[in-house]
Amino acid sequence: MPTILPGREIARQPARTAVMKGLILSGGAGTRLRPITHTSAKQLVPVANKPILFYGIEDMAEAGITEIGIIVGSTAAEIEAAVGDGSRFGVHVSYLPQDEPLGLAHCVLIARDFLGDDDFVMYLGDNMLEQGLGGFIARWESQHTAALQPALGDAPDGPTGAPAAQILLTPVPDPQRFGVAELDDEGNVVALVEKPEDPPSDLALVGVYLFSKLIHQAVAAIAPSARGELEITDAIQWLIDSGAPVHHDLLDGWWLDTGKKDPLLESNRRVLESLEARVDGEVDADSKVDGRVVIEAGARLVNSEVRGPAIIGAGSVITSSYIGPFTAVAANCEVTDSEIDQSVIMEGARIRAVPRLTDSLMGRDSEVTRGARRSQATRVTLGDHSTVELA
Ligand code: DAU
Repeated sequence: MPTILPGREIARQPARTAVMKGLILSGGAGTRLRPITHTSAKQLVPVANKPILFYGIEDMAEAGITEIGIIVGSTAAEIEAAVGDGSRFGVHVSYLPQDEPLGLAHCVLIARDFLGDDDFVMYLGDNMLEQGLGGFIARWESQHTAALQPALGDAPDGPTGAPAAQILLTPVPDPQRFGVAELDDEGNVVALVEKPEDPPSDLALVGVYLFSKLIHQAVAAIAPSARGELEITDAIQWLIDSGAPVHHDLLDGWWLDTGKKDPLLESNRRVLESLEARVDGEVDADSKVDGRVVIEAGARLVNSEVRGPAIIGAGSVITSSYIGPFTAVAANCEVTDSEIDQSVIMEGARIRAVPRLTDSLMGRDSEVTRGARRSQATRVTLGDHSTVELA
């Protein structure tokens, strides 16, 4: 049990500032999307040719947040090179280095100076949400505004009920993989537990949270969990146990927590479905583009067909090939005499004479070719944890 603070004091939190900041967590080690993220940041894996991290930054910018802190770890250089100072998104980005991935609550701890006393939205940099942040933040704002309006029956010392934290929940089939919330009969959040063996419900925490400055007391008060991390679920539990209101929203629409290949391909499919068709690259007379297709400037189609939804990145050359639905080919790839569909092909990859590549994720500068020799033999050079499924 945390030290109990006087409940009324914690619940009223009258002195709110109007500013809301953003905190994006992009440190940590990307072990689950191996080998793609052995060496590079999982937050930069592309969905429809755009790094996952950018969707979060764009959502914040759209919600009117202009000051964003990004927690970075061993992949800091790559993330800073990709995001820059934030001006291309209309925001200002500060980088907050974390020496080791010591937990989500540890990120809040080290962001203390950046956050000051402002409310903030915390966003896990490997999560992607269809719904954006507008509604989630609007609900927080309206509850804070309502809490400042005295109502009939309020105690003489003022109204209560403004949330100290707001979390986003969604039912999942495998709650053991997530932070899980338990609600009481009235729908109040009463308990949170990280990756429980025996989940109290199927309601997983989605990687977006809203906090008031009270979270700083919580993250300073908790101890590391059995896995050695300062858990944000423990910090929120500390708030609940201290009498601070913790509200929740239910997720609207789809959500990606990019751990694995199949969810990544799935979100790639969904985002491609929403793209506006646009052909800025070169399509020769022998090529055909059909449906919701984006051909970026500098890309070239030679004697090829692209059937949407699909995107071909700048500088990529597709020759005598078929690119089928739900495929994202990043920049500077080469596809020759091949057929691909339902796949994410990262920058600089080469695919030659491959009859049909499907449901695949290819890392940067990787190569799949068919040898000229008539041989049944397959030759591979694979990184650790790679997967190949032969036809
Ligand atoms: O995706 C939702 C889940 O995300 C929640 O249900 C869980 O409650 C929450 O703990 C988290 O679980 P994950 O196992 O997916 O967390 P992961 O280690 O992948 O870290 C999430 C993001 O935060 C990722 O972009 C890396 C970053 N991170 C993580 C840690 C532990 C940091 O920047 N620093 C850290 O110390």
